Amino acid sequence: MAYQGLIEKYREFLPVSDKTPVITLLEGNTPLIPAPRISRLIEGNPQIFLKYEGLNPTASFKDRGMTMAVSKAVEEGSRAVMCASTGNTSASAAAYAARAGIDAIVLIPKGAIALGKLAQALMHGAKVVAVDGNFDDALRLVKEITSKYPITLVNSLNPYRIEGQKSGAFEICEQLGGSPDFQAMPVGNAGNITAYWKGYQEFREAGKIVRLPEMLGFQAEGAAPIVRGEVVEKPETIATAIRIGNPASWRQAELARDESGGLIDFVSDVEILEAYQLLASGEGVFVEPASAAGVAGLIKVARTGMFKETDKIVCILTGHGLKDPDRAINSSVEPPVVAATVEAVVKEIGY
Ligand code: F0G
Repeated sequence: MAYQGLIEKYREFLPVSDKTPVITLLEGNTPLIPAPRISRLIEGNPQIFLKYEGLNPTASFKDRGMTMAVSKAVEEGSRAVMCASTGNTSASAAAYAARAGIDAIVLIPKGAIALGKLAQALMHGAKVVAVDGNFDDALRLVKEITSKYPITLVNSLNPYRIEGQKSGAFEICEQLGGSPDFQAMPVGNAGNITAYWKGYQEFREAGKIVRLPEMLGFQAEGAAPIVRGEVVEKPETIATAIRIGNPASWRQAELARDESGGLIDFVSDVEILEAYQLLASGEGVFVEPASAAGVAGLIKVARTGMFKETDKIVCILTGHGLKDPDRAINSSVEPPVVAATVEAVVKEIGY
């Protein structure tokens, strides 16, 4: 039968029943792409695979959690969902609310979300409000408002978000024919690392895999509260998606790190941008800057000699490059303008 979305595919692992109205845009089922050029660049030459979550319906991994959160909200009779967002959660909440025929309200940090994400939230008909503050301020407001009004919170504090997002781990195990040795990913509000770790653990309990991967999480240097062990009051990074100073799932991220024997480290904006370019021009995979943090982190930690050739490492590429066209243009050389003649073009291209 044709693919029907991740709730149908992984129903036995999810808190849904026959009564749950499944709100889906056929999210999930994203490719796991081998990355031979990056493998050669990383010390120890481990086998690198890219889980390209930018190919979800709204072009980020958030759709995995949102299909669950919105389906359960509708099941519970909710008429509105609300989130704080650095952009992707708002795009996804807006799309799934549109699909369900309910309202979406999103709070975004003023001037700090990528253009494509804002376009999505607006086009899907969400009520978008920019807050004069950062993501952490917006999340605090959303928590308070949703506790007082009949509006369902769909940030990853909503446990159904984590339930949906754990499906990424299931897919990876099926695609690899077992678990990877390591998984590398960006960490912002820390819901996704929590979800993946839960997914791997459940797949092992179900006897589908034998071992668990080591979880490697990477924050941006200017927004690295978990690495530093304290709240960052004014988080700063070009990777706006992970510009978060007080992650909601902080403790769970530490558990994923410690239980798996992994690590959470930070990468600089320069390292993030290098990995961003490398993915796009070296492997043909265009991601947004935050999504490149996992690859940047691998390049960094590999210098300690922790990987070998037989290791399989999966990088979660959380969002599509087209989300942030400004950053892409600013990171590139402006195309030259020439006369509309064959001679001028041939001269320019050097033939
Ligand atoms: N990568 C991208 C592209 C993201 O949008 C996010 C989070 C993350 C990584 C980090 O995931 O928060 O689960 O640790 N974006 C949220 C948002 C905060 O509002 O869209 P996390």
